[in-house]
Amino acid sequence: MTTNGNNESSAKPTDLRGILKYVPMFRDHVFVLAVDGSLVAHENFQNVLLDIAVLRSLHIKVILVHGIGQQLQALAEDKAIRITDAHGELDTDPATLDLATEAAAMVSLQVMQGLTRNGLRCATCNGVRGKEIGIVRGIDQGSTGAVDKLDEVLFNKLLDAGTIPVVTPIALNREGTPLRINSDLLASELASRLSASKLIFLTAQNGLSIDGQPMTNLPVAELEALLESSPEKVPERLRSKAQHAVKVIQAGTPRAHILDGRLFGALLNEIFDKVGIGTMVYSNDYQSIRRATPGDAHAIYNITRNGVRSESLRERPLESIESAINDYLVYEIDGSLVACVHLQSYDAEKLIEVGSVYVQPFYQNRGVGRKMVEFACAEAKDRGCRRVIALTTQASQFFSKVCAFTEGGVDDLPKARRDEYIRNGRNSKVLYLDL
Ligand SMILES: CC(C)(COP(=O)(O)OP(=O)(O)OC[C@H]1O[C@@H](n2cnc3c(N)ncnc32)[C@H](O)[C@@H]1OP(=O)(O)O)[C@@H](O)C(=O)NCCC(=O)NCCS
Repeated sequence: MTTNGNNESSAKPTDLRGILKYVPMFRDHVFVLAVDGSLVAHENFQNVLLDIAVLRSLHIKVILVHGIGQQLQALAEDKAIRITDAHGELDTDPATLDLATEAAAMVSLQVMQGLTRNGLRCATCNGVRGKEIGIVRGIDQGSTGAVDKLDEVLFNKLLDAGTIPVVTPIALNREGTPLRINSDLLASELASRLSASKLIFLTAQNGLSIDGQPMTNLPVAELEALLESSPEKVPERLRSKAQHAVKVIQAGTPRAHILDGRLFGALLNEIFDKVGIGTMVYSNDYQSIRRATPGDAHAIYNITRNGVRSESLRERPLESIESAINDYLVYEIDGSLVACVHLQSYDAEKLIEVGSVYVQPFYQNRGVGRKMVEFACAEAKDRGCRRVIALTTQASQFFSKVCAFTEGGVDDLPKARRDEYIRNGRNSKVLYLDL
């Protein structure tokens, strides 16, 4: 893996069109960036700042939490002072706290300078109240702290004003006493308490690989099981990030990413490219989705009748649903079927058409449709398809704005489907997503 900030060859180009497709998806969403101190010190940090400027220009609300591990170690060496722990994970004695406070001020200034030079509004604030961790397994953790409270109003005001809150890993407790908080922990707390869509750990080390295999997409349950059964497989400095990724997702943040920030364009590639270059850990939103069984045919027929009546779906007789039942996915809530999607394969063209996407009216606008389409796309990818297509009369904006499909034309259809398209006269819009 490339570690040189000047080497662009390993990063995939994320072109403007690729980015623009995602603009409506992330507008006004909160992303929390947890940037290691070692990355702030790295030459590619300048490019990370440019990536952040792109995020801001797309109206993504950014919070930047920075670490200080490397700077704290360097200060300790310079001053020949022994520190208890550089990362805020173990106990912090008074000498370590003093140096940590100095390192935090230094790094914070460097981050603020960088953001300012890129025309970005930013502010540090006293928005996190810390509390002592106390005694853990018989050892007094001294000035190591955890998050007690967040001033959510203050953070939201800054975000709404287009300002990037820069959060340092030193927080004051109720009495105004400084405490050292691990920056990964701090970032996770901010992400879950401010309802962020993403928590992104930007490190200065290679991304997560297990048994030599780079991990790109990892369901949270798999990562949790791995951390329980063989934590030694996760490199030590990434382990805390992996643990926080699991916790934050379990607390409701949909995605956490672990990224090598030394790679040119890592942040934009990870967010805007279908296959990012880091590790995306995601919640199992999909547990309500399952393959349909013959017993579901009637329910599918019944729920899609409304769509047929409003002409948003084309008619499918019960027998046709029954004979293709293995190609349906259904979404179940409390034992009731609330949505369905049909997957039609065109093997020669390596295409899958998602059709009969229907969500019962009561459950619409709750993310069910998007999850069904995402799931269908993931399934298409697993089956080795290169593209997913959708034909729709009334939901083209749903596919383009919410699911990042691109509008195409009749020529994008496989031959057999094109003939049928012309015959049925529905004049549906054709959209596609390349996998
Ligand atoms: C289209 C449909 C599948 C979307 O499912 P859903 O669960 O309601 O959608 P989600 O909750 O995942 O996404 C909600 C977003 O989609 C948008 N959306 C939903 N239906 C839309 C439509 N018909 N046109 C444009 N945008 C639509 C919402 O405005 C919302 O946007 P926002 O996040 O920017 O606020 C569902 O509304 C439906 O079943 N419609 C009737 C049948 C149909 O038209 N199916 C498509 C035929 S292939």
